[in-house]
Amino acid sequence: MFQFSSLKLPIIQAPMAGGVNTPRLASAVSNAGGIGSFGFSYSKPDKINKDLIETKALTNGAINANFFVFSDVELPSKELQSAALEAVRSLPIDGDFNVSIPQEPFFPDIETQLDPIWEHCPEILTFHFGIPKKSIIERALSLGISVGITATSVKEALEIERVGASFIIAQGVEAGGHRGTFNPEGKDDNLSLAELVNKLVNVTSIPIVAAGAIMTGANIVAALKIGATAVQMGTAFLCCEESGTSESHKEFLLNKKNRKTLFTESFSGRRAQGIENEFIKLMEGKSILPFPIQNTLTNSIRKLAIGINDGEYQSLWAGQAYDKIRSLPANELMIKLEEEIKKFQ
Ligand SMILES: Cc1cc2nc3c(=O)[nH]c(=O)nc-3n(C[C@H](O)[C@H](O)[C@H](O)COP(=O)(O)O)c2cc1C
Repeated sequence: MFQFSSLKLPIIQAPMAGGVNTPRLASAVSNAGGIGSFGFSYSKPDKINKDLIETKALTNGAINANFFVFSDVELPSKELQSAALEAVRSLPIDGDFNVSIPQEPFFPDIETQLDPIWEHCPEILTFHFGIPKKSIIERALSLGISVGITATSVKEALEIERVGASFIIAQGVEAGGHRGTFNPEGKDDNLSLAELVNKLVNVTSIPIVAAGAIMTGANIVAALKIGATAVQMGTAFLCCEESGTSESHKEFLLNKKNRKTLFTESFSGRRAQGIENEFIKLMEGKSILPFPIQNTLTNSIRKLAIGINDGEYQSLWAGQAYDKIRSLPANELMIKLEEEIKKFQ
C-alpha cells in the first residue's frame, strides 16, 4: 500500500477535471518525487484507460485518479428550465453556440468509469463531494490502492475516517475549483485551510493532505508544521507548459492579477472558486439548473470561449493565491519547491 513517507516531496498535483490534467503533467510531477493526478469525473472509460497507459509509460512514480461522487438529480420545473436556458442564451459572446436542456443520464456511471482503475491500479484513488459506495472503498483497499476523500469540515473528516479511507484531503476555503462539501445545501463554515487542519489534527488519526492556496515551499512547510502529512496543489500547476489549461485561462492567471477570485454556482450548479469574469457578473441573480446539469448546459459556451480565446466566458478556476503562480515546466516548478522547502524547514 502506498505510504506518503515513500515520496521525495510531499506534494500532490491536484486532480483538475476539464482537460487540465495530462499524462505529461502527471508523469513530470511523479518523476520529480510527488504525485501526479487526473480529475476523471467527466471522463469516459476509454479516455481514462488511455491516460493511465500513457502515464505509466512515462513514469514509475505514484499516480492518483480522482472522481466526483455525484448525487441523484432531477430537472426542476419547466419554468425554471426555460429561465436557465434563456440566461445562458442571452449572454453576449461573439459567435454561435447551441444550448438545450440536458437529458439523462446527467452524469457518468462511476462503476463503469472505475473499470480501468481496477485494471491499472494507480497507487491512489480520491473522491470529491462525498463518500463513494462501501464496495468501491473495499475493492480499492483490497487491491492495495490508497483511498483519499475531500473534507471541508470536522464532521465530513470524521465520516471519512469512519468508512476506512486511508487519508483526508482537507480543503480550505482558499482553494480553487469546486468546494468539496458533501451536502451543497447544508451549512458551510468556510473554514480556512489553517483553521481546518488545526481542528482535524486533534480529532483524526489518518494522514491529512492540505489543499488551498499553497503556492510556494514556505506554504508547504507551514502546512506540514501544523500537522499535514502532504499538500495538494492545483492552481500552482495551471501555468505549467505540460498542463492542458486553455491559453486564455493562463493569460488571466498571469496577467490579470488585479481581479479577485470568488465563488459562483453559475458554471456548474455547485459552488466553485475562480477569477471573476463577465460570465459570472452577467449570471448573477439568474436562474441556474442543479449540479451537474448546469455544467452540461454551459458546456457549449465554455467550449466556444476557449476556441476564440475569450477568457470572459470560461470557468477560470483559481485559488485565492493565484497571483503567486509561476509559469514553469512542471519539473522546474518541483525543483523550485524542493529548494524553498529546504530553505524554510
Ligand atoms: C482548475 C481546477 C480544477 C479542479 N478540479 C478538481 C477535481 O476534478 N477534483 C478534485 O477533487 N478537486 C478539484 N479541484 C480542487 C483541488 O483538488 C484543490 O482543492 C485546489 O486546487 C487547492 O487549491 P489551490 O488551487 O489554491 O491549490 C480543482 C481545482 C482547480 C484549480
